[in-house]
Amino acid sequence: MDVSTVSRSLNGSYGIHRDTREKVLAIAARLNYRPNRVARNLVTGRSHTVGLIVSDIRNPFFAEVVRGAEDAACEAGCEIVLCNADLDSGKQARYVQSLLDKRVDGILMNSVGGLDRPQQEQLALSGIPVVLLNRPRSGSNFSTVTADNQEGGYLAGEHLAKLGHRKVAYLSGPRDHGNMRERARGLIRALTATPGAVAPIVLRAPHNFRGGYEMASAILARHPDVTALFAANDTIAFGAIRALIDAGRPAPRHMSVIGFDNVELASVSGPPLTTVHQPKYEMGRAAMEMIIQATAMQGPHLPEHRILGVKLVERESCAAPRNGSAI
Ligand code: RIB
Repeated sequence: MDVSTVSRSLNGSYGIHRDTREKVLAIAARLNYRPNRVARNLVTGRSHTVGLIVSDIRNPFFAEVVRGAEDAACEAGCEIVLCNADLDSGKQARYVQSLLDKRVDGILMNSVGGLDRPQQEQLALSGIPVVLLNRPRSGSNFSTVTADNQEGGYLAGEHLAKLGHRKVAYLSGPRDHGNMRERARGLIRALTATPGAVAPIVLRAPHNFRGGYEMASAILARHPDVTALFAANDTIAFGAIRALIDAGRPAPRHMSVIGFDNVELASVSGPPLTTVHQPKYEMGRAAMEMIIQATAMQGPHLPEHRILGVKLVERESCAAPRNGSAI
C-alpha cells in the first residue's frame, strides 16, 4: 500500500475502498497512531487555527460572541486561540505578534485601535484575513462586523423619552471606546428630538460592574434631578442597579435603568433589565465565516463590512419618572 493511500484513508478522502480504509484505520488504532498536525500544516500551508482577541471574556457579551465564532470555526474544521487583551495596547500587540508567529489562518479581533501604524501595516502585509469586531468600517483595510450602535442608542433614548424622562445620564466606558461613542450619538439624537429634554450627563469609568456601581453612585450624589440612566452595556447596568439598591433608591421606582447588549442574565436581574439587544452569537459567527471564506479563496480578498440590526427589549427596569409626564 502506498503512502498516499494510507494518508487518504486516514483523512477520510473520497476514492478509497471501504475495506482498504478499514484496514488502515485498524492498523493505525493498533499502533496508537496520531497524525502530526505540524507536519500536515507545513504541507497544506494552513494551521486550521484562528486567533480571537477580545477585551475581556468575563463580559458575558464576549462569551456569546466567542460561542458563535467557535461554532463556525468548528464546522470548518478549525480551532480558535482565545486572547484577552484587556484594552491594553501593549498586550494586544504582543498577542497579534504571537498569533502571526503561530501562523494562524486569520485573526478576529475586537479592535486595532491599540496598534500603531507599523503594527497595522505588518498585520495587513501578513496576508491573512483579519476581521474587526465591534467596529464600523474604518480607515483601515480590514473587514468589519458590528451591530448598529447608533441606532441602539437612539432606541434607548426614544424609549426613555416616551416614558417622560427629560434628564438622562449616560454611563459610558473609556473615552476611546468607539461603539460606546456611537451609542451616545444615538441617545443625543433621540433627546434632541424630544421637547423639554436636556443634553445627557456623560460619565466615564471602566465598562464593568464596578464602573457601573461608581457612576450610578456619583449620579445620585451629584445630580438629584436625573431620572434615568442609560448604561453603555449590561454589565455597567447591573452595577448601577446594585448601587441604586444599596442607596435605598431601587429601579425603576426611583430611577429608570436601561442597558445595552441583552446578555442572558439581563432577564433575571432584579428588576429584569430593559436593554438593547445586539445579535452577539450571530456577530461572532458572521465574523468567523468571513475569515473562513477568505482563507478558502487563498488570494487577495476585498474587505467586507457587515452591520447587524439591534432591537429594544422591554422588561421591568424602566418606568415613567415620578411627577413626570409621558409623551
Ligand atoms: O467592549 C465590550 C462592549 O462592547 C460589550 O459590552 C458590547 O457592548 C460591545 O459592543
